[in-house]
Amino acid sequence: KFEGLALTPPMGWNSWNYFRDKINEDVIKQIADAMVATGLSDAGYEYINLDDCWQIGRDEKGYIVVDSINFPSGMKALADYVHSRGLKFGLYSCAGEMTCMKRPGGRGYEFQDAWTYAQWGVDYLKYDFCFHGTQDSRASYKTMRDALYRAGRPIVFSICEWGSTEPWLWAGEMGHLYRTTIDIMDCADCRLSTGARGWMNILEEQVPIWTYNGPGHWNDPDMLEVGNGGLSMLENKSHFTMWCMLSAPLILGNDLRAMETDILKILENEDLIAIDQDPMGKSAFRYIKDEDIDIWCKQLTGNRWAVAILNRSEYERPYKCEWNIRAMTRYFEDWENKGDYKIWNVWDKKKMGTTADDLEGTLSGRDVLLLVLESN
Ligand code: GLA
Repeated sequence: KFEGLALTPPMGWNSWNYFRDKINEDVIKQIADAMVATGLSDAGYEYINLDDCWQIGRDEKGYIVVDSINFPSGMKALADYVHSRGLKFGLYSCAGEMTCMKRPGGRGYEFQDAWTYAQWGVDYLKYDFCFHGTQDSRASYKTMRDALYRAGRPIVFSICEWGSTEPWLWAGEMGHLYRTTIDIMDCADCRLSTGARGWMNILEEQVPIWTYNGPGHWNDPDMLEVGNGGLSMLENKSHFTMWCMLSAPLILGNDLRAMETDILKILENEDLIAIDQDPMGKSAFRYIKDEDIDIWCKQLTGNRWAVAILNRSEYERPYKCEWNIRAMTRYFEDWENKGDYKIWNVWDKKKMGTTADDLEGTLSGRDVLLLVLESN
């Protein structure tokens, strides 16, 4: 694969969570404009990713054919537009014969498609695994990885296969990020009959696999649902906070053209983004799970660390952190325990004493307390 890409978790936007198959080139252009106008691009978001439903068939030579009703200018023009806004352009395809929405997949056309994407100026490819029949997932992704490499354009390769294997065990060699879960839904705690689930359900599944994360090979707990309407403001805040704690790719999934100010404030919070993008690339691990309260710890550069105290219940709950620092930092690497730490409350932007004293309080339902600790 192309090395040197996605050294921190990719940041951008993707059309699927909000627009699904109702997507066209005007929307993509408007989203690119909004990414710049809102300041989100200055905050670090750079990819504009068009998901499923842009492709309609193949021509007699096998080249992929773009849906000319919804994308009359073609993909090269759309990529040029996105680039002209100072952003990068991403596309979606699938390793199987068809995409999940039954559009033509990449099976058997990998080298041709990779060449086409490179010609268009694609910078990011999300590659799904629907309608794969008896295909082996590793072999399928290896083929596309090699095809992208051969095409010569540095393209971030986002692997979307979580169904038949445990991608964290192998996909880091193939791509720059790999889904670790079935699709996210716009809720905190719910499961659809399809298996799709809310961010808290997905968070739970990340607990055993946090060690696999790292620069150039990111666990991908799926795209953000912040601002899509199904979450309360506190749930939006907690969803974003926990994705930053995981060092997850930050791929926005809402309509950037019409965002409440409070949503924008969450998405462009530079302190949160800095935790996600910390160059060490360490995911948080769950230190404590109580009935309703989680405590997660994440190592940061500069002998600092972040602690998130999450109230998973819908009701107000007390929390207490006793600062058993040795246990809380036990997985940190190249780490010097410097005794007491100063505590900074990231969302409220205020000091909260030091770890010499227990930290106690209450949290509203689904709220999170995010702290950064620095040696005294
Ligand atoms: C799968 C993926 C989604 C989206 C759809 C498109 O369900 O997991 O993220 O790309 O396919 O059809």
